Amino acid sequence: MSRFLTQGLSALEPYTPGEQPRDRRYIKLNTNESPFPPPQAVIDAAAREAGQLQLYSDPASTELTERLAKTYGVRPGQVIVTNGSDEVLSFAFQAFADAAHPLAFADITYGFYPVFAALYRIPWRTVPLKEDFSIDPDDYIGTRETVVIANPNAPTGLCLPLGEIERIVASNPDRVVIVDEAYVDFGGESAVGLLPRYENLLVTRTFSKSRSLAGARLGFGMGSEALIADLHTVRCSTNPYNVNRMTAAAGVAALENDAYFTRNCRVIEQNRDALTQGLRGLGFAVPDSWANFVFARSRRIGGRELYLELKRRGILVRHFEAPRTRDYNRITVGTAEQVATLLQTVKQILEEQV
Ligand SMILES: Cc1ncc(COP(=O)(O)O)c(C=O)c1O
Repeated sequence: MSRFLTQGLSALEPYTPGEQPRDRRYIKLNTNESPFPPPQAVIDAAAREAGQLQLYSDPASTELTERLAKTYGVRPGQVIVTNGSDEVLSFAFQAFADAAHPLAFADITYGFYPVFAALYRIPWRTVPLKEDFSIDPDDYIGTRETVVIANPNAPTGLCLPLGEIERIVASNPDRVVIVDEAYVDFGGESAVGLLPRYENLLVTRTFSKSRSLAGARLGFGMGSEALIADLHTVRCSTNPYNVNRMTAAAGVAALENDAYFTRNCRVIEQNRDALTQGLRGLGFAVPDSWANFVFARSRRIGGRELYLELKRRGILVRHFEAPRTRDYNRITVGTAEQVATLLQTVKQILEEQV
């Protein structure tokens, strides 16, 4: 830390992203990326745009915004396109929460929420998940806080039914409810259909998981036109060219090739079932997941020990060293081959334990 850092930031603990190591080739099951590359049409679209990189991008990401609006049945004014969904979350925290409008989110959820809150000096309340890691919707009913719910939640993979999301949104008409749907494409139920009825609902989405574009950094938010206008105010006061030309072109091409991604999502759901069953067969406790990862606890080996053993053998998974999560590992669902290798390797590790 330099002596110039302001006092307000000196205690900030930044978000720790999942490892992206360069020392060797790993089977990477640690950051919930898609195991499938983008289709050729998406690669070609980004490459074509590379020839125009001397020019700034369209600050309104007009074509992509219009395509997203069409895809999700909303008006273009109800969509904001961002540099990953982290950015739309960051804009939303700045726009809709402050000391007078504190935040509420789960104790076990996406690790960026408390980081953004601390960065923007927004007080927050962490709401403990139930013993089985499910969310108790009653914890958020009528709280008069800005609520953030990842649905499906990460790293648990559990889902709150849409009816419960609606109950929360309806009970907080004077506060924004942010529903982070980074993982909704793997069998979850989206809250987008609620948008015509609730001006306080913001749904955030990403191209990083189901659309194989984590490296492009592309996310978006959908909400009432008034909410989205507020987010554009923050965007244009931060980084008006927030989505680069290659990424915007890749996003448009991805929407044109939706069938490819939908197929991949179904394959990932099948592989998730195989991974869940396989781990349960090896004695793990694994809650049913609605995302492209599972959260698994062995009764025979500690979470950190398993993480380290797998890493030593070339497989990366994610371990969170916190009291309620340290016995678990979050394992991204890979290809059928990757799942088989993971299960085989875990079996070997467990056999060596005895
Ligand atoms: C729940 C959740 N929300 C948002 C994000 C951010 O994704 P991105 O910024 O890549 O769109 C992640 C990333 O892992 C996540 O797990």
